[in-house]
Formats: sequence, C-alpha cells, structure tokens
Amino acid sequence: MPSTVPSETKFRLAVLASGGGSNADKICSYFKTHPSINVVIIISNRRHAGVFDVAAKHDIQSAYIPKNQWEDSEPVFELLQQNRITHIILAGFLLHIPEWLIQTFPKKIINIHPALLPRFGGKGMYGHHVHEAVKAVGDLVSGITIHEVNERYDEGRIIFQKEVELDPSDSPKEIGAKVLKTEHTEYPRVIEKWILG
Ligand code: GRF
Repeated sequence: MPSTVPSETKFRLAVLASGGGSNADKICSYFKTHPSINVVIIISNRRHAGVFDVAAKHDIQSAYIPKNQWEDSEPVFELLQQNRITHIILAGFLLHIPEWLIQTFPKKIINIHPALLPRFGGKGMYGHHVHEAVKAVGDLVSGITIHEVNERYDEGRIIFQKEVELDPSDSPKEIGAKVLKTEHTEYPRVIEKWILG
C-alpha cells in the first residue's frame, strides 16, 4: 500500500510492533492530522500480528519483516530510507534491536516499558512477565518508562516515567490493564515532546 502521508512531512515515524498494537493505534490517531509529525509505516516481525489491522484501519502502509532479516541491514534499511524515516517508535516490539539500526538512528529510537525501570527490566522482562514479577514482590506501585534505545536492553536514557497505583488485590492481568491505560494516554504526547523539544 503506498504511503498516504504528505511527502513534505518533516518528522516521519516508523512504528515497530510485534503484537496487538494498541499503543500503535493511539500513536496513529494522535499524529493523524499533526502538522509536522506523521506515522509513515508500521513494521512487524510477526506475519499475523494484530498491528496490521491497526495499520489498515488508519490507512498506513505496513510491512512484515521476519526475524532472520533484521540482523542483515539491507531489507529494513532500504524500507526506512525509501520512506525517509526520521524516528523509530518501538511499541511492543519483541526483537532485539540490531546494533546497525541503533548506529543508523542514534538517539532517534524510543521504547516504552510497562514498569518503572531500572526495576523489572532486562532480557526476558516483557508483557505479562513484568506484571507477574511486580505482583510477586507485592509492590503497590508500578508504572511506565519511556526511554531511548541503546545497545543494552532497557538501559537507554530515561525520558519519562509515570507511576500507576495498584491495589493489593490486583492480579497480574489487572496490573497490566492499569499500566496499559497509562501507556495509551502518555506515549503519544511524550513522543511529540521528545521530537519537538
Ligand atoms: C505494552 O505493554 C508495552 O509497554 C510493551 O508491550 C506492550 C505492547 O502492547 N513494550 P500493545 O501491542 O501496544 O497493545
């Protein structure tokens, strides 16, 4: 599907997602009529990821790039270059970001983590694993962290954090739902501020 984004758009986002894409959905809505920032493409490493429905809903072009094609820079790099991508937004993207991509977009890749880093971060800490770990230690506060991406998992410069209050009776699923709600309200405007300063 060709891009429907005006070619003069100054800041051009690629959203990378592996799952349902509820964050991608909020980001696409937020920037739909933005004067200088637009989502140009959604890329997933999962052929049947729900995020493709999000792309179709917003009439945004999408691409499936399987896991084994990420380490070799060519297919991804070409796609990003053709679309003159300026910033990369990770929204539930579960693949390791290869070093070549970080070097090609220094300080221009952002991620959201569903907890208050540095707690509950690192390899293997994603999705329900995070909320189960929070429940296991009995924390009554969790939250979100939005950070730049560098070579080490969840260790890039923290841009924004927000706490989410929990109830002692919350299940990991309920913790996840509360945290996700906060992600939806905060991620788009934090991205905007990060880009525009
Ligand atoms: C979110 O909780 C995000 O923090 C994490 O992955 C989840 C993605 O959810 N990195 P969705 O696909 O945006 O619904």
